[in-house]
Amino acid sequence: MKNFVYSIPTKIYFGEGQIQKLDKILAPLGDKVLLMYGGGSIKKNGIYDTIIQILKENEIAYEEMGGVEPNPRIETVRAGAALCREKGIQVVLPIGGGSTIDCAKAVAAAACYDGDAWDLVKDGRKIRKALPIVSVLTLSATGSEMDTFAVISNMETNEKIGTGAEILRPAASILDPSYTKSVNAYHTAAGTADIMSHILEAYFSNVEGYMQDRVAEGLLKTCIEFGVKAIENPDDYEARANLMWTSSWAINDFLVLGKRVAWSVHPMEHELSAFYDITHGVGLAILTPHWMRYVLSDQTAEKFRTYGVNVWGIDKDLPAIEAASQAIDKTAEYFRKMGLPSRLEEVGIGEENFDIMAEKAAAQLRSAYVPLTKEDVKEIYRRAK
Ligand code: NZQ
Ligand code: ZN
Repeated sequence: MKNFVYSIPTKIYFGEGQIQKLDKILAPLGDKVLLMYGGGSIKKNGIYDTIIQILKENEIAYEEMGGVEPNPRIETVRAGAALCREKGIQVVLPIGGGSTIDCAKAVAAAACYDGDAWDLVKDGRKIRKALPIVSVLTLSATGSEMDTFAVISNMETNEKIGTGAEILRPAASILDPSYTKSVNAYHTAAGTADIMSHILEAYFSNVEGYMQDRVAEGLLKTCIEFGVKAIENPDDYEARANLMWTSSWAINDFLVLGKRVAWSVHPMEHELSAFYDITHGVGLAILTPHWMRYVLSDQTAEKFRTYGVNVWGIDKDLPAIEAASQAIDKTAEYFRKMGLPSRLEEVGIGEENFDIMAEKAAAQLRSAYVPLTKEDVKEIYRRAK
């Protein structure tokens, strides 16, 4: 295990009705709030009305910005930052999934930066100041509610880049699982695949972390237990609650402290979303089993066997390669069981951009669990075709 500093300061208000504490959460942070949200799901399920009522009853001044896109765009970030400056916003309040929260994080940083917002996306080290962020999560997936990252797209240049800074971790996040009951089966499945991928990215590391890996296995088992249940019964509060809390812990840093390595599947997926604007979790579900099969070797088989035995209950006496292979099959099968596509062509992706996407992804994969070259990535894309 490597040395690390543990500090995950986001204050979490978890459970039904926690929104009623919103006024007290906002009070020490500032007097004027920017409410941010996506395409309108919060208006359909009533969360918007509840929050507006709380703001009005407590005489909290606010501005609104809706229409944040899934895979949020740099143009939206720029518009949000301009609004913050013009209206003297002191706190950013995203209500939504990862896209809205990521966009709000980038807005919070860009509002305090003199240059163009894209500079901050390209280089997180430039993020020195940001407005405080309070998030209200409505979709269990990205963990943005408790992490330091914001992923922003520039569709003109086909770039989707994850930036990050400690200062972007929300000051507080309200996690009410009942808010996720209205998430449809497709996004519940994609969100669960995203959570699983964050855990797997941390798990498959060359740096040993026995304790972290046992926690990771528990989190993976939680996704497997409750992903399908939430899809089959959207109102299952326990399923929604377990997925929500797992989404935060999958990527809040705990699992990677002491054993951080560069991620493997996310860089390959971000290229797919950058070129084709697909749902992030769907891209991950397609690529993950192919990546696993590609990197399985005598060197990695033992780790995959441990994954298979501890997460999927595979017979520990099987030869490592056989157990590993069964574990990969189980992973693919679970994504299919949740109704997710397993081939790129199912989401409209052909070979036309494999070359450029592989080149860009490979630039981030030189120090991954198994380092991958452009040719390796191309081959993984081909096998996923
Ligand atoms: O826009 P609205 O109308 O709110 O609808 C959204 C959207 O269409 C809908 N939705 C959200 N909550 C709902 C709901 N529908 C009904 N009921 C609710 N309660 O779901 C759709 C998808 O929302 P989105 O926010 O795009 O999904 P997700 O949370 O998966 O976020 C995806 C984005 O986060 C990035 C991804 O790349 C992608 O851009 N990621 C962010 C990370 C981070 N910050 O750490 C890490 C991840 O690996 C990921 O890259
Ligand atoms: Zn992800």
